[in-house]
Amino acid sequence: MLQVGDEVVYFSAVFLLVMLGTRSATGASLVTAFLYIFMMMFRFPPVPADQAGRVLRPRTPSGGVPVVAHRGGCHDAPENTLAAIREASRNGATGVELDLSFTADGVPILMHDETVDRTTNGSGPVGKLQFVQLRRLDAAARHRLKNKFIGEKVPTLQEAVEECIKHQLTIFIDVRGQPDKAASALHAMYKKFPVLYNSSIVSSFEPKVIYKMRQTDPNVVTALTHRPWRLSRFSNGTLRPLSTWGQLWTGALDVLLDWALHHILWKLCGVSAILMHKDFISLDYVQYWAERGVVVGAWTVNTAVEKRYYQNLLKISYITDSLLDCDPHC
Ligand SMILES: *[C@@H]1O[C@H](CO)[C@@H](O)[C@H](O)[C@H]1NC(C)=O
Ligand SMILES: *[C@@H]1O[C@H](CO)[C@@H](O)[C@H](O)[C@H]1NC(C)=O
Ligand SMILES: *[C@@H]1O[C@H](CO)[C@@H](O)[C@H](O)[C@H]1NC(C)=O
Repeated sequence: MLQVGDEVVYFSAVFLLVMLGTRSATGASLVTAFLYIFMMMFRFPPVPADQAGRVLRPRTPSGGVPVVAHRGGCHDAPENTLAAIREASRNGATGVELDLSFTADGVPILMHDETVDRTTNGSGPVGKLQFVQLRRLDAAARHRLKNKFIGEKVPTLQEAVEECIKHQLTIFIDVRGQPDKAASALHAMYKKFPVLYNSSIVSSFEPKVIYKMRQTDPNVVTALTHRPWRLSRFSNGTLRPLSTWGQLWTGALDVLLDWALHHILWKLCGVSAILMHKDFISLDYVQYWAERGVVVGAWTVNTAVEKRYYQNLLKISYITDSLLDCDPHC
């Protein structure tokens, strides 16, 4: 949805800033016109609202908001495994969030971290392991319920997609980097399983990943994931250990990124949703995006009080580590 009011404000601001900087009305007009044409030429229109709605507001059995199991529900089962997908479905999740990664020989698989150390009995970067090596690892090795999930392997993207389709789960595919590889692997998956156009969404912190995805396949529903102050602070709010200049620089980048995301990047990428850190969502924020035809999703919502707040007050879908417990940690 095009917000004419927004556009007038932004382009007027650009015009005034350039005008103040250069004291040239011609220069300011040219720069503004250039930016406007750039936006018009290079942005991707969002997918139709009814298609996005099928993905982002699927009918839930309870009539409540859609609940998405984070990494497949990393508290209830070993994260990013087929067992987690089955467990999430059994426990009433409407969808699962999964992390795309690649082995050294280019096989798309599920893994959150850059290394296999935290979740499996192996060690080293995922990108340095051949698929056959990765496949020998125990994907439940470090989970609190490892005795319940014996023999769990790291799944391929395709195995995970097939399991989700079987259980009619919405898939939130999170992509951390490697825009070209990810876009082509995902495009191939969508072509093979066209139902994904109605049941899955590709999300990333990196606008270039989403831009590349839309460029490769404009029919894919997408989301930008965001956490304000992500570059300068950890998610618990403490500053990252950087020099004073490092802190100033990352802080400035954070302000710029936050502004760009809310005013330019979402439109350039044509996203259908913003997946926002739970601490930065208010009714006004949800309303702001609703007016622009964009749905807000929250992560990671874990306590009972928080779940009630997102379900009953904000009425938005949320991503959680557990469908069962209300003090989980992965
Ligand atoms: C990890 O566990 C699997 C399954 O028990 C085993 O076959 C494999 O040898 C183990 N790998 C390492 C590196 O310990
Ligand atoms: C998506 O759902 C709509 C409405 O049910 C249907 O018309 C369309 O064919 C579906 N698209 C795919 C690719 O399955
Ligand atoms: C916040 O998180 C960072 C990184 O995970 C950790 O090093 C730090 O101790 C945490 N601080 C607090 C106050 O929990």
